Amino acid sequence: MLPVAGVSARLCALPLPLEVRAEYARWLPDKWQNAVEKRKAQAIGARWCAVAAARGVSVELTALPLDEAGCPIWPAGLVGSLSHCESKAVAVVSTTLKNLGVDVEELFDQSKVELLSDTVLTPREKHSLSADADLARWQLTTIFSLKEAAYKALFPELRVFIDFHQLEVDLDQLHITHESGHRLQGHVSQQVGHVISVVYR
Ligand SMILES: CC(C)(COP(=O)(O)OP(=O)(O)OC[C@H]1O[C@@H](n2cnc3c(N)ncnc32)[C@H](O)[C@@H]1OP(=O)(O)O)[C@@H](O)C(=O)NCCC(=O)NCCS
Repeated sequence: MLPVAGVSARLCALPLPLEVRAEYARWLPDKWQNAVEKRKAQAIGARWCAVAAARGVSVELTALPLDEAGCPIWPAGLVGSLSHCESKAVAVVSTTLKNLGVDVEELFDQSKVELLSDTVLTPREKHSLSADADLARWQLTTIFSLKEAAYKALFPELRVFIDFHQLEVDLDQLHITHESGHRLQGHVSQQVGHVISVVYR
């Protein structure tokens, strides 16, 4: 997925088979225990992906607790990130990177575009959107997804809430810059109706 040594990613279609979900049920953190089955299946899918991705860098995950902010606690020497939506879960891990975040997003429909544009986009990003409505939909979904992934990449280091307008995305270079000056690299894959973003440095 990423052209970087020491990085491993795994994506899966949801829901996983019943027997796999049963096997991975013990990985569900407390916050998911009372969720509806569909949401539990998403969270379990992400843990299955995390175990598979970790094996890709020769790490055998035995647990993945969350801290009080909901941020996964990876074993020493590993950084990583999880994301899940209705039909997909993804995990990415690394033994070499400092910051790493992932996000999977269903392509926004037009009503979501209208609802979220002002919240998500800085004036410069808004200006850079295509006049073609379909292309602009992909662009907004991608900027949103890159910012969510950047939040997950930066939070373990900064430990502060980040607003969408504190991040600026350059879609040509796939750079994501925090107002503090931290600059991260993005990697985007667009798949039938979905955007998957990985942000790292
Ligand atoms: C963390 C957040 C971005 C997750 O996005 P989401 O669309 O709700 O859900 P996703 O499936 O993509 O990601 C969820 C995973 O992110 C991870 N996560 C949650 N909080 C996290 C944090 N503070 N730091 C890093 N990772 C975090 C968890 O692994 C979680 O999955 P889990 O609950 O199954 O363990 C979102 O919940 C949030 O807290 N947003 C507030 C900040 C924000 O959005 N700012 C604007 C963007 S800059």
